[in-house]
Amino acid sequence: MRFSITDLLRMKHDDVKIPMVTAYDYTSALVVQHAGIPMVLVGDSLGQVVLGYDSTVPVTMDDMIRHIGMVVRGTEQAHIVGDLPFMSYQISTEDAVRNAGRLLKDGGCQSVKLEGGQELADTIRKIVEAGVPVMGHIGLTPQSVNQLGGYKVQGREVDGAKRVLEDAIALQQAGAYAVVLELVPRELAEAVTNQLDIPTIGIGAGSGCDGQVQVFHDILGLYIDFIPKHTRRYAELFDVMANSLKRYVADVEMGAFPSSDESFSMKVDVLEEAISLTTGLSK
Ligand code: KIV
Repeated sequence: MRFSITDLLRMKHDDVKIPMVTAYDYTSALVVQHAGIPMVLVGDSLGQVVLGYDSTVPVTMDDMIRHIGMVVRGTEQAHIVGDLPFMSYQISTEDAVRNAGRLLKDGGCQSVKLEGGQELADTIRKIVEAGVPVMGHIGLTPQSVNQLGGYKVQGREVDGAKRVLEDAIALQQAGAYAVVLELVPRELAEAVTNQLDIPTIGIGAGSGCDGQVQVFHDILGLYIDFIPKHTRRYAELFDVMANSLKRYVADVEMGAFPSSDESFSMKVDVLEEAISLTTGLSK
């Protein structure tokens, strides 16, 4: 049985911190499962760290469904949240409900996440009424990077902070079961966390949130194009992988790989017979 949103709500109630991380494929899902992480996000950040785009904007529903399936197949206990990609929920409520349903039906995740505040309250309400649990996402919303003018901390001034607080309450009232707070000052994140009954999951929002989410490639040092300030690198896997591949190349070049233990053998007389049967054949 997978970790459920009821389990998540109980963690907030019991004041137990919630660890969450992204995963994008079968192998990373196996690692996450092995580490016992209860909440896994198949984020549209796969646009940058897997697909090589410079933002999440180009990510499609088909991309999300394909990658959610990989993560679902690699996990047994974790609750899998699938990100609704840009323009899959903004155009109409019907689209939003249909696409949220597709992530569950065709991808296999247990809930969806979408970016935005009060303006999406009705959409969230409809998706939840259709039976799909929704995680909100406010503060810095990367799909709106072109409108926000970059990946900047949100809510440092009165207007912005008021908006984050109002958005958080609107999401809770609309039926969201949790809300991601991205790149907001820790004082504001703590105030939101205290105001809500549902859990807050922070990324660049300080330690006062109920949980934390980080991008797999960031905390494991796999993605070197950009290192966010809010990330702690628990490993330098890019270096480990690149150095390992350099050793492999050197071994191949000097004939040290593969060894006899790393290859297969056959009986000499069998080979000789096979060769004798080919004599006379033209090359
Ligand atoms: O796509 C993603 O990885 C996210 C996190 C930054 C929360 O939305």
